[in-house]
Amino acid sequence: MPLFAPDIAIDLGTSNTLVYVRSHGVVICEPTVVVVSAQDRHMVRAIGDEAKFLLGRTRDSLVAVTPIRNGVIADFDATMLLVRYFIRKAIGSSHLFKPRVLVAVPSGLPAISRRAVLEAVKTAGAKKVILVEKALAAAIGTGLPVYDPTGSMVVDVGGGTTDTAIVSMGGIVVSQSVQVGGGRMDDAIVSYLKKNSSMLIGDRTAEEVKKDLASALPAQENRHVHIRGRDLLSSHAMDVEFSSAQAYEAVTEPCMAILASVKWVLERTPPELAADIMRNGIHLCGGASQLTALDQFIGRQTGIPVLLAREPEDCTIMGLGHLLENSELLDGLSLSAGAR
Ligand SMILES: Nc1ncnc2c1ncn2[C@@H]1O[C@H](COP(=O)(O)OP(=O)(O)OP(=O)(O)O)[C@@H](O)[C@H]1O
Ligand SMILES: [Mg+2]
Repeated sequence: MPLFAPDIAIDLGTSNTLVYVRSHGVVICEPTVVVVSAQDRHMVRAIGDEAKFLLGRTRDSLVAVTPIRNGVIADFDATMLLVRYFIRKAIGSSHLFKPRVLVAVPSGLPAISRRAVLEAVKTAGAKKVILVEKALAAAIGTGLPVYDPTGSMVVDVGGGTTDTAIVSMGGIVVSQSVQVGGGRMDDAIVSYLKKNSSMLIGDRTAEEVKKDLASALPAQENRHVHIRGRDLLSSHAMDVEFSSAQAYEAVTEPCMAILASVKWVLERTPPELAADIMRNGIHLCGGASQLTALDQFIGRQTGIPVLLAREPEDCTIMGLGHLLENSELLDGLSLSAGAR
């Protein structure tokens, strides 16, 4: 039996969970979804990829749970079961000594929510849990010079949160986490169709429309797609034609909310660091940063160049992985005081 489990890092996202194992890299990237039995919610039927497949196809006896909502634990038991499953899948369960686990959390998370993460991950099988602010991990994973005496700015637009931070000399100088992300864009598309076409569409359809058609700026050419949903009045299936112009209109509100958070952070940035940001640009990452023209929209509205990370969904986990591989860096983390 191996004595010591390898250290691991978990990016427990609203939409996706990624796991990094020290010396091995990213070994898991699956949706943050658990399917449980309706009779006994401790009876897990599927987790991750398999559970996502069942979402929307569940029989009455099964319930799909998305345990993280807007970056925080919404269902403690489901989170614990999901983390336990992923830890075992990543490193097995035969080690005498449990692993040390790094977990990314939104900036400014209230103490009670931080404690919930610590408890859930510990109960799931960690020896020690170290919390790292998501934006710091994302900045490291984006490849920004976070340990240099220069200012870097990162905006991580995820499924449930947008985490924005100014980072310098290994620490966060200003940050804000707001509960706006890709999920809110999907909701905005659902609401738009409800209001304007009296039609109800599923979350998955809304997500597809967002990726395919929605844009943070008015589209150059007005494309149309057919969307299938349910008539709110008759409950019958119905089709509507949906245009890029409508999709743009639908996601304007979440895009404005993301912009407001970026501006909030910029307004609180010390002048010397603000000059660095003007020069080095704003770095966008997170899955929803791929919304068409979100980079141009933020660039135009702030007057600062915006750069989109190459693998935007992997930045947070790669940053956590970097900290794991260089454990001396962990000592300087402000949030490590929350470790136990
Ligand atoms: N091409 C795309 N265009 C727009 N949105 C996209 C695209 N690809 C993925 N997304 C969205 O990115 C989001 C998931 O991003 P990510 O995996 O970074 O979130 P997360 O880390 O799970 O959430 P969070 O960090 O907010 O808790 C989803 O809302 C998804 O629909
Ligand atoms: Mg994330």
